[in-house]
Amino acid sequence: MALYSEKVMDHFLHPRNVGVIEDADGIGEVGNAKCGDIMKMYLKIENDIITDVKFETFGCGSAIASSSMATELIKGKPVSEARELTNKAVAEALDGLPDYKMHCSVLAEEAIRSALEDYENKKKD
Ligand code: FES
Repeated sequence: MALYSEKVMDHFLHPRNVGVIEDADGIGEVGNAKCGDIMKMYLKIENDIITDVKFETFGCGSAIASSSMATELIKGKPVSEARELTNKAVAEALDGLPDYKMHCSVLAEEAIRSALEDYENKKKD
């Protein structure tokens, strides 16, 4: 059996929503201290709906595929739904990741959560 699913390979080779949102409403940056990979998420939010999302990931193929899939899963969704996105859901949407690569999908969950926190904090100002 191939180590990576076709979906992982597709999102790794053709990642969706790569880039920066200059006037983002929320930005989250997280890293994994062990592997040194870094993920940054940018959210554009209008009326509590995520209207746009972009990412930059300096990391392994699974981290890139996870970020790409995560952006697709939350685009157009309410903030409340994005907050519930788990790394498991990201990995499942990718038709699975090898066990030792599950931590890569955790980065995607954390990056989105961190961007949402930034959004909430900015709203308070
Ligand atoms: Fe670090 Fe994948 S090996 S995120």
